[in-house]
Amino acid sequence: MGFSSFSSRLPSLYLVVIFLIGSSLVSANFYDEFDITWGDGRGKIINGDLLTLSLDKTSGSGFESRNEYMYGKIDMQLKLVPGNSAGTVTAYYLSSKGSNWDEIDFEFLGNLSGDPYTLHTNVFSQGKGNREQQFHLWFDPTADFHTYSILWNPKHIVFSVDGTPIREFKNAESIGVPFPKDQPMRIHSSLWNADDWATRGGLVKTDWTQAPFTASYRNFKADACVVTSGKSSCSGSASSGSNPGWLSEDLDNTKQERLRWAQKNYMIYNYCSDSKRFPQGFPPECSMA
Ligand SMILES: *[C@@H]1O[C@H](CO)[C@@H](O)[C@H](O)[C@H]1NC(C)=O
Repeated sequence: MGFSSFSSRLPSLYLVVIFLIGSSLVSANFYDEFDITWGDGRGKIINGDLLTLSLDKTSGSGFESRNEYMYGKIDMQLKLVPGNSAGTVTAYYLSSKGSNWDEIDFEFLGNLSGDPYTLHTNVFSQGKGNREQQFHLWFDPTADFHTYSILWNPKHIVFSVDGTPIREFKNAESIGVPFPKDQPMRIHSSLWNADDWATRGGLVKTDWTQAPFTASYRNFKADACVVTSGKSSCSGSASSGSNPGWLSEDLDNTKQERLRWAQKNYMIYNYCSDSKRFPQGFPPECSMA
């Protein structure tokens, strides 16, 4: 192996490096992006690329993003508490502050070994939620990492699992429904005990002999507008007409078909069809679904 064969490899090495930097394959470093906010050592960042939360009888734990976001396409891989996770809840959500807060929620409700997790979703705008949709998943979310994504842009909020949209909350401001668009949100996650309600409505209690319970996170990726002292990192590009694609991303036909597939086969609760709960008529956004 002479010098020439070494140098002939250099260009491809450069290309790989440039490709990795240019694409979003490089996931962000957890130390830079998140703070463990509670849990007295039960939340941990390991080597910058893995984060774990744990829960025992004394406490759960949680983390929060350092950045505040105003629109974004945000991916995170989660591996949920395995085995008998009944009574535990892993919440992963975006939220603003104050009494008129906005919030976009994924909540994973644990279950007895072999029984399915429930993925609970909700959207709050200006302090009002009551927009639950719940799903079972088409895989065991404790066996491996899976990607949970939130696309939040001025048109809609889309919840996706491994690239399959499971829920779309459309911007229905035109019919008087407030849409999250004025308050920057942080990413939050926590693992806590909710055995007063989480599993079969509170019938199944947390089995503390299985503690500590642990959930893991990796491959965080945010294509997002970051708000710093009231200024969005996207506002410059907006005026120059070079908005990132996700900021106006719609569901194409394939994605709409996937959404229908997930809703038809895996949705177990939809507030928009719970007529007992809304005897006076469904919330207006339900007519846009
Ligand atoms: C737990 O398993 C039961 C039985 O399959 C199921 O009805 C329920 O939706 C599951 N999830 C929760 C959170 O109770």
